[in-house]
Amino acid sequence: MDRYPLVLIVDDTPSGRKALESLLVNQGYELALAGSGEEALALDERLKPDLILLDVMMPGMDGFDVCRSLRARPGLAEMPVVMVTALDDAESRLAGLESGADDFISKPFNRAELRARVRTITRLNRYHALLEEREKLRQLSQQVIAVQEQERRNLAVELHDEIGQSLTGLKMLVGQARNQASDPSSAGRLDLALGAIGDLIARMRDLSLNLRPGMLDDFGLHPALAWLAGRFREQSGLQLDCNFDESGDRRFPPAMETAAFRIAQEALTNIARHAGASRVRLHLAETPGQLALEIEDDGQGFDLEALRQPGRVSTGLSGMQERARMAGGALDLQSTPGRGTRLTATFPLVVEKEGTQT
Ligand SMILES: Nc1ncnc2c1ncn2[C@@H]1O[C@H](COP(=O)(O)OP(=O)(O)OP(=O)(O)O)[C@@H](O)[C@H]1O
Ligand SMILES: [Mg+2]
Repeated sequence: MDRYPLVLIVDDTPSGRKALESLLVNQGYELALAGSGEEALALDERLKPDLILLDVMMPGMDGFDVCRSLRARPGLAEMPVVMVTALDDAESRLAGLESGADDFISKPFNRAELRARVRTITRLNRYHALLEEREKLRQLSQQVIAVQEQERRNLAVELHDEIGQSLTGLKMLVGQARNQASDPSSAGRLDLALGAIGDLIARMRDLSLNLRPGMLDDFGLHPALAWLAGRFREQSGLQLDCNFDESGDRRFPPAMETAAFRIAQEALTNIARHAGASRVRLHLAETPGQLALEIEDDGQGFDLEALRQPGRVSTGLSGMQERARMAGGALDLQSTPGRGTRLTATFPLVVEKEGTQT
């Protein structure tokens, strides 16, 4: 470990803080002190300690309240918490466990025991190991998204330019043969062949556009979203209201255009597959300093909490989140069973001095 484990001591009384501090000072820990639950929560967010020693009886937020608040915060939920308590009855221990504490130490505490427990927990260091693993996973998924995007772009170009041109050449040749055909049965067969080649060209174009619509690179987000919306209406038969605040030729940074387009693509796919909606709204709005993409449906909605359960892997939604983050933005998802879903991706725009934005 390249730093000392950080232990946060939370106690409202100076004597309580002092007692714990004197036990752990010069023992290979960094120590931080908080005199109230509120102060502890503010410090946790910033310092991410390796262990919290938490007094239970405090005015304002007591130890149980602090523990519950911690557990509800993403990123702090797994932080080790040991409650230091004079309450030694089974009921208080149960309340502590229910609020999310990992362990208890009874006051007055045995000095050797307390040191040993703190050492064991901080040596395991599972909390920081978990944070590091998560960060690695996040970086890996960013790399996967970047490689996938490049591969899709290559495939789209290959399909369009190489295969598309060969098919067009073939169509011309068959067309010439059709014009020169002297007997009706050959002419009929060549007409069928021309029809099949025409279908193939259309399907290939569709596939290529789906992989990466060239208009996203050539003309930007508005035309690409308008194309996506048109296709969604055609394929799903649903009503989709598209609303763009800005003029169509406005360009945004390429990473942002790609992220917004892919998020819209996944959101519309989800609506077609899961929502059972009758009406969908897509809104792209630019305000000073921010681009916001909002997609809303009036379908059956879903329980976001259920998706957060351990073991549930939700690639579509987490991919959207990752894409927004990669472009410097954020994704907000609101869904209520029976009342539809609203997804908002926001991206920061740099406001330049002359009043133009990039
Ligand atoms: N607009 C929506 N309306 C109702 N339910 C939705 C909506 N969007 C997502 N869901 C629910 O959230 C779940 C997770 O969505 P997500 O896109 O992550 O995965 P998926 O669509 O099931 O699979 P994939 O990984 O192929 O996208 C869906 O299975 C569905 O139950
Ligand atoms: Mg999906």
